[in-house]
Amino acid sequence: MNFSKSLIAWYLQNKRDLPWRKTPQPYPVWLSEIMLQQTRVAQGLPYFLRFIEAFPTVQDMANAPEEHVLKLWQGLGYYSRARNLHATAKQVAFEMNGNFPGSYAGLLKLKGVGDYTAAAIASISYGEAVPVVDGNVYRVLSRYFGIDTDISQNSAKKQFTELAASLLPKDSASTFNQAIMEFGALQCTPKSPDCGICIFNKECVAFTTGRVNQLPVKLKKTKVTNRYFNYLIIKDGAGNTIVNRRSEKGIWHGLYEFPLLETETLTTETETIERISNFKTLGFTPENIELLHRDIIIHKLSHQKLHIRFWQITTSLTLPGGVDTEHVKTYPYPIVIHNFMESYW
Ligand code: ADE
Repeated sequence: MNFSKSLIAWYLQNKRDLPWRKTPQPYPVWLSEIMLQQTRVAQGLPYFLRFIEAFPTVQDMANAPEEHVLKLWQGLGYYSRARNLHATAKQVAFEMNGNFPGSYAGLLKLKGVGDYTAAAIASISYGEAVPVVDGNVYRVLSRYFGIDTDISQNSAKKQFTELAASLLPKDSASTFNQAIMEFGALQCTPKSPDCGICIFNKECVAFTTGRVNQLPVKLKKTKVTNRYFNYLIIKDGAGNTIVNRRSEKGIWHGLYEFPLLETETLTTETETIERISNFKTLGFTPENIELLHRDIIIHKLSHQKLHIRFWQITTSLTLPGGVDTEHVKTYPYPIVIHNFMESYW
């Protein structure tokens, strides 16, 4: 049997029973594929189910406020994806009568839908013979064929797309594309794959030449910046707190947070206490506040390492713009802030 036939046979035996596989309509396929660019199936599944329950149709999502979409996305990270998701839902619902475009080329015109998502929807929902290329596909093909092209180079995408297209059976695009991704997720895993039980262990070039751990080749390491955040969790004299919506470009755009004191370097506790005590915009003085702090939390994002310290502040002042401490829980937050509130609020 050739590669594609064996792969499909493996898939039919081993595939997971996932809700968007039952009736592969474009709306659930689109939603699941956007989520799965962000997380693994096991972590993404509860999010998918909550979204489908809240928004059974694309119109329901389109009619929801953006904050509701962000709240449900909370914890998945990379929030611009959630904002694009909402924008796409509006585009489909209001400009296309609720119908997703019926082809790969049409799908590519949607906001936030790139080659990968368009190919996934077109193949899985419509059976169109277009190859998907995601991290799983790079891994499976680079190992099976022993390809040592650096996948962080732009030219790699063309090479792997052409190879995937040449392997794709025209009449089984949906099954083949899901099979290769499922195989990458379950068998040909990034770390310590169990090659002893792999159906391809007689012919896989990486396995037969002892290079499984070296493939795929990814040379460009992402540069990580350190940032130092001090969040001020205030309870004022009226029992209110202060939260702000992040409006600047960059991380967590559109999400809520507590007043933030960002420093260039890691500051000592004494230094930070001094800065907070003189936080002029809030009218603090060392005499009118009480401070309690928690350990520093390290929160890793793809390009940033955040060193976060939460400071709980009680003050007798009544602050302008204060919000009721119960009401603030309904806003969307970065997951570190949400977790802090769950533990200490
Ligand atoms: N990862 C991303 N999309 C997937 C899919 N459709 N099946 C399995 N794993 C995936």
